Amino acid sequence: MAIEITWLGHGCFTVATAYGQIIIDPFLDESPTAPIKAKDVDAKFVLVSHGHFDHIADAAAIANRTGATVLGNFEICAWLQNEHQVKNAIGMNLGGATKLPFGTAKLTLAHHSSQLPDGTYGGNPGGWLLNIDGKKLYFACDTALFMDMQQIGAEGLDFAAVPIGDLFTMGPEDSLQAIKWLAPKRVVPAHYNTWPPIAQDAEQWAQSVKLKTTSEPIVIEPGGKLLIA
Ligand code: NI
Ligand code: MN
Repeated sequence: MAIEITWLGHGCFTVATAYGQIIIDPFLDESPTAPIKAKDVDAKFVLVSHGHFDHIADAAAIANRTGATVLGNFEICAWLQNEHQVKNAIGMNLGGATKLPFGTAKLTLAHHSSQLPDGTYGGNPGGWLLNIDGKKLYFACDTALFMDMQQIGAEGLDFAAVPIGDLFTMGPEDSLQAIKWLAPKRVVPAHYNTWPPIAQDAEQWAQSVKLKTTSEPIVIEPGGKLLIA
């Protein structure tokens, strides 16, 4: 089965696999650009990159309704279990991977912060490297540019999602260097155009990616899909 990736605006993606749906950084009900609400999500796995509201807002609601397993750093998983009654969670830490029915999920480095919405310490921020039936998908999530992306790129990526919004994460210029180091077959921009301070011209970004990297840029609207076959 081909892997279907859907961008739900901001940093939120779903990945449909033969083993159920994965949702990454669910931010739907209060996102100005999300095409669906949290109640519409039927996920088996909820992956949370860090503690910020715009990444974790709907995680507990989705997991508690669907029974999904939440993956995140140890601090975030403990907070979801203790404060939001999430039943199934796998607390991880940076560099660690866990085996799941669809393959593996590794919590990778990110340079950012991770305080939880109520002020609780949220551990270190991360990104996600997924291996699904041999396909390697990397979600950088909220991060600055960092050189270890070369190491992630050495995995041989079929897909990457990188932030381009600037201000809170890397911007379009730094994303070009990130894409050179990651060298994914296809790359999608994220974390932009949600609010005016992170407005970016994605078409212009795509032109630069075509010109300066070997990756294929794919610009999708919120709700848009992409197949990894
Ligand atoms: Ni953040
Ligand atoms: Mn964010």
